[in-house]
Amino acid sequence: MTVTEKPAISPANPDFSSGPCAKRPGWTLDGLKDAPLGRSHRAKIGKAKLAQAIDKTRDLLQVPADYRIGIVPASDTGAVEMALWSLLGARPVDMLAWESFGSGWVTDVIKQLKLDNARKLEAGYGALPDLSAVDFSHDVVFTWNGTTSGVRVPNADWIPDTREGLTICDATSAAFAQKLDFSKLDVVTFSWQKVLGGEAAHGMLILSPRAVERLETYTPSWPLPKIFRMTKAGKLNEGIFKGETINTPSMLCVEDYLDALDWGLSLGGLETLMARADANAKVIADWVEKTPWVDFLAADPAIRSNTSVCLKIVDPAVTALDEKDQGVFAKAIVARLDAEGVAYDIGSYRDAPAGLRIWCGATVEASDLEALTPWLDWAFAEAVASLRQAA
Ligand SMILES: Cc1ncc(COP(=O)(O)O)c(C=O)c1O
Repeated sequence: MTVTEKPAISPANPDFSSGPCAKRPGWTLDGLKDAPLGRSHRAKIGKAKLAQAIDKTRDLLQVPADYRIGIVPASDTGAVEMALWSLLGARPVDMLAWESFGSGWVTDVIKQLKLDNARKLEAGYGALPDLSAVDFSHDVVFTWNGTTSGVRVPNADWIPDTREGLTICDATSAAFAQKLDFSKLDVVTFSWQKVLGGEAAHGMLILSPRAVERLETYTPSWPLPKIFRMTKAGKLNEGIFKGETINTPSMLCVEDYLDALDWGLSLGGLETLMARADANAKVIADWVEKTPWVDFLAADPAIRSNTSVCLKIVDPAVTALDEKDQGVFAKAIVARLDAEGVAYDIGSYRDAPAGLRIWCGATVEASDLEALTPWLDWAFAEAVASLRQAA
């Protein structure tokens, strides 16, 4: 039984997934027709495309000239793992985690690499750990934007310029939407599939001169598979950072990434992309402000993501339910909107508290988020009506 009228307007693009994220406005497969398909990535044309991807990344993301940028296998995960397994072990490490992905890196370092001098600084969903407790004589591993809780670090002011350890930052859902202060970051990773709406499977690994120095002066005590190896005879394999990838990339995905980078550059660059994410997140914030049934998982606006916006349902009819049924309720909203074709993939992450997660990165249009919010109210009202009927 419908209790409220369905909204008249639907989002033109219902893709609000937090990864792979919406393709850029105006994207078509036809835009990839210059991909050198069927050619070797080591041919002149392939190498030129890969070098362009690196150069345009530097340009759009404002990466300092003395930082290396490499295209590596296995998406953001591959880039983070490469950094962890190649760099850690030289000194103690502080592992920061406040949601699922950060916790995954903690597991890697403590349970797989089995580093004994690893400290965990953790916080639950919606909060940040105490950043003032970080010891920068240690290496530090953190996620800039916690995609599954919608909590990000507010800036890099908590990281000193003079630090002894390296800072290793998983920035996959922040890059191109939030200002990354490279002077404070020694390793930055991301995947094409996030803010630029590219394809997954390829990761970006950005290294500061200090990270390179570590690679050239420290050899981990554990073996490194070929896919992670960045040095040859104690020297950095510079080819990786010029587009001579370790193994074979998809040139179709590379072309798609170039398309996304060109789009970002054509809009005016990083500032425009960040402003688009801010404007998108504001559409949701304005709606949350006037909507009693919903609130942010991140209570503090200073640490609230402008990409992976995570919401909880705070209506008493729902909070009275047990945790499992709250999850069922949230999933009912998600399923209704999916069935209507107005919003796809907006459920909270499988390990996160029940709720909604709406991607607001640069490839999403504010007008589509404006169109989405009445549908959220509609789906909530429908789900509450079903709940009452079942009671
Ligand atoms: C913070 C964070 N780290 C890592 C990943 C894993 O990324 P990928 O699947 O591109 O390797 C994700 C994916 O959503 C993420 O949000």
